[in-house]
Amino acid sequence: MKKRVITALTPSSDQLHIGNYFGAIKQMIDLQNNEDYEVLMFISSLHAFTKVQDAAQLRHNISMFVKIYLACGVDPERIFMFDQAPIAWHTQLTWILSCMTHMWFMQRMHVYKDAAAKWTADALNVWMFCYPILMAADILLYDIDLVPVGQDQKQHVEYARDIAEKFNRQFGDVFVLPDALIQSEVAVVPGIDGRKMSKSYDNFLWLLDTPEVLKKKVKLIVTDALPIEAVKNPDTCNVYNILKLFLSPEEDIIVRKRYTDWGLGYGVIKEELYQKVVEFVAPIQHRFSQLDDTMIEQMLLANGQKANDIASKKIEQVYKAVGLL
Ligand code: TRP
Repeated sequence: MKKRVITALTPSSDQLHIGNYFGAIKQMIDLQNNEDYEVLMFISSLHAFTKVQDAAQLRHNISMFVKIYLACGVDPERIFMFDQAPIAWHTQLTWILSCMTHMWFMQRMHVYKDAAAKWTADALNVWMFCYPILMAADILLYDIDLVPVGQDQKQHVEYARDIAEKFNRQFGDVFVLPDALIQSEVAVVPGIDGRKMSKSYDNFLWLLDTPEVLKKKVKLIVTDALPIEAVKNPDTCNVYNILKLFLSPEEDIIVRKRYTDWGLGYGVIKEELYQKVVEFVAPIQHRFSQLDDTMIEQMLLANGQKANDIASKKIEQVYKAVGLL
């Protein structure tokens, strides 16, 4: 039997960069090629609403994210893609689970503790405290076996499992118990200033940047001031640390050797990086330009109906088990 896997795409902005591709999108594409898995991918628009509270912006982000993911190679024939927002059962189940969740359990969540440490009490929102419950509902509605997440989200999947176990003990076997599938740490992709590539640092290479913009940005990548004749260390070079993402193992050996041998100039290696990035984004941008909103809306509508059928059956089981139906 194939294991059922769920993964989320949170449209909290309208753009994705090279760091997002190698940090998240690529893993999703690897999942869809794994024959042992049946993969569901949903747009966690209710999660995005925690941060994007502007109607036009939210619609725009959702459309852009779906298109960029598809353009990057997420295949709707192999991954079942839907939007959670039209499926009312996500929030219904959130309520049922909330009634069974102790405050202290949410209080120990790392993500909440980090938020509470960072913001003053008057800036904290209730969602920061209870969004793991919505996340658990996202998982439990669809009989999910595995949830691929980074270390930071592991605790949330454990909570989903714990609350499902508690529910099953009290009301009978309704939920499948999910496990976290911890994704190996992906290398942090540096941005043009050397810090982690991130929207908040304004140091990114967008997947949709034009060649002209990419050229400018690559030129700006910070390097040390060693002269051409100096021997250089690739591992501390921001240009190399981006370039290596695009290299085959054989190419990598050659590039590393050029750093440690005599005569590598940063201008030359930047030009090579620029070429690689343009080669990489060109087919993505081409596919992106061919996708239109109507196509995507139709897919999401059809898949939304299917997802709604699955989720409403699960809620019926839940309601019957607890006596609400
Ligand atoms: N909280 C997850 C994140 O920040 C996104 C998410 C929401 C999710 N619901 C989910 C991931 C359900 C997996 C399953 O990355």
